[in-house]
Amino acid sequence: MADLEGNIAAKNYGLDTPQESPGSHIKGAGQLEFGMRHRLSRIFGDDGRTVMLAFDHGYFQGPTSGLERVDMNIVPLAPQADALMGTRGIFRSVIPAENDNALVLRASGGPSILKDLSDERIAMGIEDAVRIDAAGVAAQVFVGGEHETQTVHNMTRLVDAGMRYGIPVLGVTAVGRELTRDARYLGLATRVIAELGAQMVKTYFCEEDFEQVTAACPVPVIMAGGKKLPVPDALSMAYRAIDQGAAGVDMGRNIFQRQAPQAMMTAVKGLVHDGLNPKQAEEMYRDLSGGAND
Ligand code: R5P
Repeated sequence: MADLEGNIAAKNYGLDTPQESPGSHIKGAGQLEFGMRHRLSRIFGDDGRTVMLAFDHGYFQGPTSGLERVDMNIVPLAPQADALMGTRGIFRSVIPAENDNALVLRASGGPSILKDLSDERIAMGIEDAVRIDAAGVAAQVFVGGEHETQTVHNMTRLVDAGMRYGIPVLGVTAVGRELTRDARYLGLATRVIAELGAQMVKTYFCEEDFEQVTAACPVPVIMAGGKKLPVPDALSMAYRAIDQGAAGVDMGRNIFQRQAPQAMMTAVKGLVHDGLNPKQAEEMYRDLSGGAND
């Protein structure tokens, strides 16, 4: 039985000593087999970072603002992204097969916004991920949620299936309304997901101690975007997440709901891969957009 009372608060995160990853430029990937590493290398650049564009929202909430027409809203942005995160329905029907983006395929689903979102199941077979040439598959995990065990089990089954075919899993921390997005919770959720086998974790940024979340997670942490923020706030959040150890961003609404999504893609890319600070990235956005004011 878990000894919760004797569970001494974690504090020694070794923040000055990055985790070594011999054999790979991707955190924790050095001992994976060839196919898995090859796919991860398509998601992450030579710098070990990724700009992933998320547009899978329709799988539970239908035609989201800014995603009414993925052919018009997302396809023009794809060349600037390292990876695209979407559903097999949209990949097959809308995304040109000629695109060379790494595809991260949404693999869990079930309930819509009309029901309890944590009641998800695995929503596709791994063979279809192979057929679609997915570089990774993604499953939502609701740590502390009503269906925690079920969603953890969804992910671990996906990890087993991915191991058979060399397809890495992106475990997505889904934070219910009643849970606080602080380092303690996000540290718990990301570590549970990584320990149970996901090769990448997507999670939200938190204002305090985010570097502890990334330090204690043995695989790459990718920052989730969340709801649309003013441009300076969105860029500052992405910058701080990377500065504190995130291996890139997986942003949706903060890009495709902008007045100038193309300009925002360029700014985010500059920040993730080219060392721009938030001010420089914001100036880039304003210049390229011709003065967008969002
Ligand atoms: C995450 O829970 C889902 O994958 C979302 O549909 C998507 O990734 C959210 O992206 P954003 O919050 O940046 O709009």
